[in-house]
Amino acid sequence: MASGVMRSLDFYNNILIMKVFVINGPNLNMLGLRKPALYGTGNFAALQDFIRSAAAEFGIEVELFQSNHEGAIVDAIQGAYGCFDAILINPAAYTHTSVAILDALKAVALPCVEVHLTDISTREKFRQFSFVSLYAEHTVCGQGFEGYRQGLLYLKEKYAAQ
Ligand code: DQA
Repeated sequence: MASGVMRSLDFYNNILIMKVFVINGPNLNMLGLRKPALYGTGNFAALQDFIRSAAAEFGIEVELFQSNHEGAIVDAIQGAYGCFDAILINPAAYTHTSVAILDALKAVALPCVEVHLTDISTREKFRQFSFVSLYAEHTVCGQGFEGYRQGLLYLKEKYAAQ
């Protein structure tokens, strides 16, 4: 486990539970309405339910955050310092533009997995570069909701109680 981790204690079983901060960027709150042929027909509430059940399956505690605002995402990442063991992020359009989000991730230095519903490597040229990939240790692309589950599984296998 990386240093500076903050696991909560499960008092009944006396085990430490990994805490992951899940961040979704702009327009992901429009899932279901937004290009369903590309992003799927499930709405954002369905994605949140999916993430919560994947976390429960792996015994991970998650907090979910979504914003359409770059600065709010930077603030949320800064606030994760000392509170979470890892970050799972779909920065959405900010993936391709945001040095500020990259810098915030580097500043808090938590283990980080990047997720995209679509395979950005096969989409428009401007989506093929990710600033966040310069920091994230693992990226899952093109698996829809399942990508979030894969990201949580990666974090659990790499960082959960050793
Ligand atoms: C996305 C891909 C981005 O290019 C796009 O701006 C998004 C969603 C994805 O999950 O596939 O909003 O991050």
